[in-house]
Amino acid sequence: MTLSKKPYRGTRDFFPKDKRVQDYMFSKMSEAANLYGYEPYDGPLLEEVELYKAKSGEELINDQIYSFNDRGERFVAIRPEMTPTVARMVAQIHKEQAKPIRWFSIPNLMRYEKPQRGRLREHWQFNCDVFGAPGRFGEIEILQVAAQLLESFGANEKNFEILINDREIVDHIFSNLIKADQEQTYRLYKIVDKSKKVDEAAINKMVDEVGLSADGKDAFLKYLTLTSFEDLKAFVSTSDANLDSFDEFITLLNNSSVSKYIKYDPTIVRGLDYYTGVVFEIFDKHPDNRRAICGGGAYANLLQIFNEKPLPGVGFGLGDVTLRDFLETHNLLPDLEKDNFDIFVTFQDEGARDASLSIADQLRKQGIKAVTQFEKVKFNKVFKQAEKKSVRFVSFLGDQELEKKTILIKNLESKEQKEFNHSDIEAIRDYIRS
Ligand code: HAM
Repeated sequence: MTLSKKPYRGTRDFFPKDKRVQDYMFSKMSEAANLYGYEPYDGPLLEEVELYKAKSGEELINDQIYSFNDRGERFVAIRPEMTPTVARMVAQIHKEQAKPIRWFSIPNLMRYEKPQRGRLREHWQFNCDVFGAPGRFGEIEILQVAAQLLESFGANEKNFEILINDREIVDHIFSNLIKADQEQTYRLYKIVDKSKKVDEAAINKMVDEVGLSADGKDAFLKYLTLTSFEDLKAFVSTSDANLDSFDEFITLLNNSSVSKYIKYDPTIVRGLDYYTGVVFEIFDKHPDNRRAICGGGAYANLLQIFNEKPLPGVGFGLGDVTLRDFLETHNLLPDLEKDNFDIFVTFQDEGARDASLSIADQLRKQGIKAVTQFEKVKFNKVFKQAEKKSVRFVSFLGDQELEKKTILIKNLESKEQKEFNHSDIEAIRDYIRS
């Protein structure tokens, strides 16, 4: 049997060119998180399935999780998301920590999905979460971190928008205006979550199956058509909803640096069960790439599954696949086709090998990125090889130079060429740096 060279379905090999892009995105993620005082953490690749069963929701557990029994008959899963892990970790130490606790991580996650644009089976996800922030400040800050990241690539309100909703309000609407019981509410959530991906007839059919009253169904369909906070207020004012807290949040948002991105969207409810308050998704505005780059929200009760007192948390996950699609769609990636080394160190005669390799090594001690060639290279072949290695300088050392104890260094951009003594390492460094 011939083995396939392709990676497992829905996963990727990262050849240097792709790894450079990923590293570039990761460095921007860490920078954005650091700017807001978030500390890095990490957790295990495997967790007990029970951890996800507690709060993540049916879809993740039934359809998407990679699970197996380990050799000790423990039922474990490759992490499909990071939030249960971070909640478990925070539950261990929150009592001794000053609040708020601000953490970030960039784990790889696996979900058994049908691979398609923007959806793979393995992806890396930038996670930022804040625990124990007072009032609505955590929510605002989390949105600012996400926006900061996208802005750091040069994106603005023409490129993306933040669609938000509040599950507390949705719960209220479903129970008081639509008169749905708990089971119906759960099913309505799933319909809302799917509503953008299916047509009107399909929505109607799904709603009919829930068995609402005629008025309830009308109210539900009306709810789906709301387009602004004002619409929402008018819609809810017919009931006794307490909109004060959400209103206060909207006022804070409107006065914050992210206000230009914010849009109310009744169809954002998020597929994960642990969210209890504000929920949001960051959407690409480009018509060719209308999809979520990032999703998150507030969860008040996740620590209770570990028998801890409630500690409110809010956070987001932003995937590397969707981020790269977004950046490419809007032309926001720099040219990372080639790496950036300083000098290609070559020798033209066998006898010059040791001197050439030794100079390369001394240059590295001075912080110069030196790429060597282990075999002699003819003078006229050096330039072609140098181009592939994407260096700015090349050096030559043949018998003639060896005798004089010199080395020839050429700047490939300016074509300037200079001779140095073998002992002039610092001068060579300065020439390369200048
Ligand atoms: P999520 O909406 O499942 O949330 O995922 C967040 C983001 O991860 C998505 O918007 C997308 O960019 C990316 N993503 C998710 N699944 C895939 C996939 N199969 N392929 C490629 N990218 C994907 C969560 O996971 C929450 N735990 C986020 C969170 C953190 N909430 C609070 N804190």
